[in-house]
Amino acid sequence: MRVVILDSSEAVTQFAADEVCTLLHRRKNDPRGAVLGLATGGTPLGLYRELIARYARGEISFAKVATFNLDEYVGVVPESPSSYHYYMLENLFKHIDIDLSLTHVPKTCGVDLQESAESFEHKIEQAGGIDLQILGIGADAHIGFNEIGSSLGSRTRVKTLTQRTLEDNARYFDSIDEVPQTALTMGIATILECQSILLLANGAGKARAIRDSVEGPITASVPASALQLHPRVTLAIDRPAASMLANADYFLAAERNRAVASRSS
Ligand code: GLP
Repeated sequence: MRVVILDSSEAVTQFAADEVCTLLHRRKNDPRGAVLGLATGGTPLGLYRELIARYARGEISFAKVATFNLDEYVGVVPESPSSYHYYMLENLFKHIDIDLSLTHVPKTCGVDLQESAESFEHKIEQAGGIDLQILGIGADAHIGFNEIGSSLGSRTRVKTLTQRTLEDNARYFDSIDEVPQTALTMGIATILECQSILLLANGAGKARAIRDSVEGPITASVPASALQLHPRVTLAIDRPAASMLANADYFLAAERNRAVASRSS
C-alpha cells in the first residue's frame, strides 16, 4: 500500500485531483474513455469541487468518461436530496461535460434489488472495468456500505447498515429515524477488481480506521483492511488521520524517496 501523509485536507484534495487528471489525460485519445469509481460522503467533496474548477479552466474534459458510484440507499428516490443520485448530480455531474447516460449510481427504486445488483456488476464489466476507484472510509473502516463483517469475497448486494453508520449519516437526513436501514453497495471483491484504488481520509476521527486498515490484520471486521490484498492502492490522508499509524515515519520517508527518484529519472 502506498500511504501518502499530507499536511492538510486541501493537500489531500489536490493530490486526489492530480490522480484523476492524470488518468483523464492518459485516456484522452482512447475511444473507451476513462472509467471512474466514485464515492459520496463529506470527504470527496473537495475533490469534486477541484475537478469542477479544473474543468471550468479548460484543463480537463469528462466527455467520454464513465462513472460507477459505490452505493445508494434503498428506499430513497433519486430526486430526494438525501439520495446519492442527487449528491452526484449536485456536487459534480451538473457542473461538468459528462454524458449522464454514462454515469451509474446503483438503482434502488422501483426495481428488483437482486437484478439491479447483477446488472450493475454487468455494466462495470461491459465498461471494461473501473480504472480508478475513489474511496472514503467510515469511522469503523467500512468502505462503500460494506459494513463490519462483510465478506472479502462479496459482490454488489444489499447490506444492512450498522447503528454507527446510521448515526454518522444522520446529518444528511432530518432525523436518524429517516436514515434508510439498508443500501445497495459494491462488494469488497467488486472493489478489489478495480485497476487502482485511491482512498481519502481526513481528521482524527478516521485515525483508528486508518491504522487498523493499514497496519492490522486482514479481516472482515475491518472491511478496508481487504485493500492490503490489492497491488495498486494509494491512501491520501492528512496528518490527523495518520496520527495512530505506528509506521508514519516510514511512510513519510518512502514518499521523500519516491520524490527523489522521480526527479532523477
Ligand atoms: C458513507 C459512504 C461511504 C463513505 C462514508 C464516510 O457510509 N457510504 O462511502 O466513505 O460514509 O463518509 P465521510 O466522508 O462523510 O466521513
